[in-house]
Amino acid sequence: MSIKILGTGSALPVRRVMNEEIVRMVDTSDEWIRERTGIGGRHVSVGETAASLAADACSRALEDAGKTAEEVELLLVATCSPDEVAPCTACRVQDRIGAGNAVAFDLNAACAGFLFALHTAWAYVEAGIYQNALIAGSEVLSKLVDWEDRGTCILFGDGAGAVYVEKCQEGGILGFVQHADGKKGGVLAGGGRQLVSPWAGRQDFRRFLQMDGREVFAFAVRQVPLNVEEALSGAGLTVGDVDLFVLHQANRRIIEGVAKRLGAELSRFPMNLEHVGNTSSAAIPLLLDELNRQGRLKRGMRLVLSGFGAGLTCGACVMQW
Ligand code: ACO
Repeated sequence: MSIKILGTGSALPVRRVMNEEIVRMVDTSDEWIRERTGIGGRHVSVGETAASLAADACSRALEDAGKTAEEVELLLVATCSPDEVAPCTACRVQDRIGAGNAVAFDLNAACAGFLFALHTAWAYVEAGIYQNALIAGSEVLSKLVDWEDRGTCILFGDGAGAVYVEKCQEGGILGFVQHADGKKGGVLAGGGRQLVSPWAGRQDFRRFLQMDGREVFAFAVRQVPLNVEEALSGAGLTVGDVDLFVLHQANRRIIEGVAKRLGAELSRFPMNLEHVGNTSSAAIPLLLDELNRQGRLKRGMRLVLSGFGAGLTCGACVMQW
């Protein structure tokens, strides 16, 4: 038994911010950003929220699957940039789309969040608890980014992607791995809140995301191929059996490095980071939706999804579409 993706959806804020606009804010250039990252533009919220983007993406995924919100049993939202601490984003989405019969909660594993949520849904279905799930990755990272830090503000974008999955007897998820290394938590961290009680005194806190870019880069290029090979081996498959590698869209050079290490042609690594940037947990489902709507995903195709992010967290999933 496994789970199969039956529908995809996505949503992006209306406002697009091209590199040229960022060049007027920090000391950088369009050439530098494109050459070092592959990013040309990103969408930035001017009022859209993690909940509104996730709800739009979820509604589109349900429509694509031909399902109604009332049918959903489990609603998961992966996010590291929720609009509020409580209630969770998934409950806001449940209310917005009318998924009144679903249990709803959030999951935060940063950029690996969508993958971890997908694996969580698989585990619930495998245990016989639920028969289906609606899973979104949604981020408004623009509120956690220091727009004066050229090392990070060029990278991130806002958006959401979602999938509807259902129990299946054949195909679906064939194998997965997930890992976390809290010792490396400081490599990419921040977006904190300040203690305000009279007893706390003055606390250090990181209002914005801070990142050791080189360390994240090295981690991703080293770890993603290992995760992919581990997941493939668990499914009894090899790199040659895979039609498409749908990787977290952080940086074009990371994806090129992973392809090289795996010995796979870059043409099997679709990318959309040129126009959306790094959307963290939304990146994989956003790209899946783009591929689906372009008709590039055919039933029976073998896909590998792989993500990595703050935590540090990482994982990979092998599936038959
Ligand atoms: N424009 C111009 N120069 C810049 C910029 C910029 N936007 N940013 C940094 N530089 C400068 C640095 O200051 C440095 O200058 P120096 O040599 O005078 O000190 C020089 O460029 C090189 O800096 P590096 O950090 O070595 O540049 P690098 O080639 O590593 O590229 C980057 C930086 C793009 C951030 C890269 O390290 C990267 O992509 N890392 C991975 C980031 C990532 O994927 N993060 C998210 C993953 S997890 C998640 O999504 C939450």
